[in-house]
Amino acid sequence: MSNGPGAGIPAVSTAILAMSRHLEVRDVLKTIVASARELLDAEYAALGVPDDHGGFAQFVVDGVSAEQWKAIGPLPRQHGILAAMLHNATPERLADVREDPRFGGWPAAHPDMSDFLGLPVADGDEILGALFLANKRCPKTPPSRRDGCLFTEEDERLLGILAQHAAIALTNARLYERSRELTIAGERARLAHELHDAVSQKLFSLRLTAQAATALVDRDPARAKDELHQVAALAAEAADELRAAVVELRPAALDEDGLVATLRSQVQVLDRAHSARVTFTAQGIRALPNAQEEAMLRVAQEALHNALRHSGAGRVDVSLTRFGQGALLRIADDGCGFDTRVVRRAGRHLGLVSMRDRAGGVGGTLTVESEPGTGTTVEMEVPGG
Ligand SMILES: Nc1ncnc2c1ncn2[C@@H]1O[C@H](COP(=O)(O)OP(=O)(O)OP(=O)(O)O)[C@@H](O)[C@H]1O
Ligand SMILES: [Mg+2]
Repeated sequence: MSNGPGAGIPAVSTAILAMSRHLEVRDVLKTIVASARELLDAEYAALGVPDDHGGFAQFVVDGVSAEQWKAIGPLPRQHGILAAMLHNATPERLADVREDPRFGGWPAAHPDMSDFLGLPVADGDEILGALFLANKRCPKTPPSRRDGCLFTEEDERLLGILAQHAAIALTNARLYERSRELTIAGERARLAHELHDAVSQKLFSLRLTAQAATALVDRDPARAKDELHQVAALAAEAADELRAAVVELRPAALDEDGLVATLRSQVQVLDRAHSARVTFTAQGIRALPNAQEEAMLRVAQEALHNALRHSGAGRVDVSLTRFGQGALLRIADDGCGFDTRVVRRAGRHLGLVSMRDRAGGVGGTLTVESEPGTGTTVEMEVPGG
């Protein structure tokens, strides 16, 4: 990892986010543990959420002072009775925890405990943690004689209700985390499509135009200069597209000029930048809903890009015609064609998948007709509005 200035910032902000989320659940768990101790009149209460390494990811206690807690030392491990509750999901109501055969001892500073009530915190079959109490308070009995003052069945029932609340809090926290992951994954996919559809195509044209300028610079400096202006314009457009992809804006040109004018000018640019003849015609087009126009533009861009990059076509014709309430977009090339069944839907090839997604996303359909040797026709139909 780089150690430059700011290198640690993402890590720090991730940690802070994780912590604040952690705190929220922790607050709920703390309230539950404190209520349990108070309601059941116990000296000590605790709730442990296991981690995958034999320890506890969370361990919340009530009835132990901060100094005591510090003196006890590291968090407990999953052994003895705690482990039994976590592994078997069985309640444990014991008159004296120290006399249980599973009892494995305490650290020196651990408070002395005798009577014990512990319940698993479970979501269905899954054990999320354990909630437990020790030393039921007996106002009338001196602390030296604690017999006859044990946790009751009623206590067990009450603690069961609190354990259910703890299960809900923990499950919610997990669901929250999962939904956040899904949102991030969805956002990443959208950005990948957007970058692929818009920005990478602009950069490809940019490279070609720069190559053309290089080839012309000695022979025809005036035309080279024109090409270089084109390079600058394409670079500016790529920067705009990138910005739009990041903040999820529509391509600016669509708002300013509409779909027909935008397509026409993009086709003109491609016609100049490539050796193939690229044409555009439009007929009877009415304004379409924004999302449909945007999808049309993106599909046209990808189909054009594929034709110019893969087919070796001498001609690529783009047409946009009225179709019922909606419109039909067609991109036809006379290039080498390909076997549509062979192209894998996954992996590095995003273009065809992305076109299909875009069409489907606005209630439209996409068809790709191609065979080796016959050229390729991509058609997209949208319903209008
Ligand atoms: N018009 C076309 N003519 C010839 N072959 C094509 C045409 N369009 C697509 N193909 C073939 O289909 C394949 C898949 O196209 P697709 O757009 O999904 O991916 P890609 O263009 O290879 O990569 P990406 O679009 O992700 O940058 C291409 O690699 C190419 O072999
Ligand atoms: Mg492609």
